[in-house]
Amino acid sequence: MEDFHVKDKSLAGQGHLQIEWASRHMPVLSLIKARFDKEKPLKGLTLGACLHVTKETAVLVDVLVAGGAKIALCGSNPLSTQDDVAAALADKGVHVFAWRGQNTQEYYKCIDDVLDYKPSITLDDGADLVGTLHSKRQKELKNVKGGTEETTTGVIRLRAMERDRSLKYPIVAVNDAYTKYLFDNRYGTGQSSMDGILRATNTLIAGKNFVVCGYGWCSRGIAMRAQGFGANVIVTEVQPTRALEAVMNGLRVMPMADAAAIGDIFITATGDISVIRKEHMEKMKDGAIMANSGHFNVEVNTKDLESLSVSKRTMRPNLEEYTLKNGKKLYLLAEGRLVNLAAAEGHPSEVMDMSFANQALCSEYISKGEKLKPKVYTVPKEIDEKVAELKLKSMCVEIDQLTDEQKKYLSTWEMGTT
Ligand SMILES: NC(=O)c1ccc[n+]([C@@H]2O[C@H](COP(=O)([O-])OP(=O)(O)OC[C@H]3O[C@@H](n4cnc5c(N)ncnc54)[C@H](O)[C@@H]3O)[C@@H](O)[C@H]2O)c1
Repeated sequence: MEDFHVKDKSLAGQGHLQIEWASRHMPVLSLIKARFDKEKPLKGLTLGACLHVTKETAVLVDVLVAGGAKIALCGSNPLSTQDDVAAALADKGVHVFAWRGQNTQEYYKCIDDVLDYKPSITLDDGADLVGTLHSKRQKELKNVKGGTEETTTGVIRLRAMERDRSLKYPIVAVNDAYTKYLFDNRYGTGQSSMDGILRATNTLIAGKNFVVCGYGWCSRGIAMRAQGFGANVIVTEVQPTRALEAVMNGLRVMPMADAAAIGDIFITATGDISVIRKEHMEKMKDGAIMANSGHFNVEVNTKDLESLSVSKRTMRPNLEEYTLKNGKKLYLLAEGRLVNLAAAEGHPSEVMDMSFANQALCSEYISKGEKLKPKVYTVPKEIDEKVAELKLKSMCVEIDQLTDEQKKYLSTWEMGTT
């Protein structure tokens, strides 16, 4: 069994500096780390994690190690690993199996490498590790006490597994905590997706027709930030209420077939498949740019793009130019994978502070939890509120407390019009 597999261990020095920089901006995790250091709630446990290997994930790993855990870690996307951070983690003695630019076979091999450590708690982002355990390595399911899931797409998959009774151990849906999706999905994805588009293209956003596919937590964050850059934002949706929200937020809403013809930049964040496909690409203007910020690389149908094209070349890192049969050129960022992680660095540390505080506290919750049934659980309210409370404290923001009169008023029904 290998101890670790990274691209270049000599990058560790830069990786340590990156982790230190992230850690300075993750005060909630620092507080949890100090407690974990004393109490060792994860002592003797092996945690198997499939997460984007970024500097913020490294800070989470430090917290879990302080809690007494042994960690085996692989990347949750073939293009999102920060190689210097992976090297630094290996240097710290973490069993890390991740490098940027993996093929599909290497990606799943790394998941197997993590599972070889026989984790009793799993931390997943997109449910690929859980899926592998439940399909190819079912005999090992008995070793697992529980798990956590970081993202919307993973939670959707786990709920499907729960529905058809194939889920064999309890998993806490970290994504569904208020202190996760309201901030990470919205402000994190909003800012970092714009960062990814800019690093890949350095194109001007102001005045462009910027098409955002979806108006969920991630996509509304992207729409909000694109508006701030001065773009004419167009939203496509399939849910009437979400579409209505976009309209009332002052955005244009139309079907993809119409948006395709006028968009300059397109970005998907729906968790769906083939949101941008052949019929749309055929209508697009020469020079249109496509990107994705949803979990899997299926939102922009890259097979369709390949089939329409006669040639392709790499213009800049993370920017591929496709020449179509009629001479039109279309541009795809980061191979249609998460643009914010592949072309930029993912969410800012301040946001991941809350998401990963939930991960750390939910790992502790599972470790000492009474026997939970194999279902998908929401993050306990006390954990969610504790994370918000600690974050506010770290930002020196104080809030009011309910008076006794207010508590009584809010918990009884007798008082009406006065
Ligand atoms: N890039 C990141 O770092 C990051 C962070 C968090 C989540 N995610 C991923 O982003 C995706 C979206 O997550 P979310 O939390 O915003 O989910 P969400 O459920 O809040 O929003 C998704 C929206 O897309 C809409 N939609 C579905 N199919 C569509 C279609 N064909 N055309 C237009 N709209 C469509 C849905 O109606 C919904 O409103 C997921 O895959 C999630 O895992 C990515």
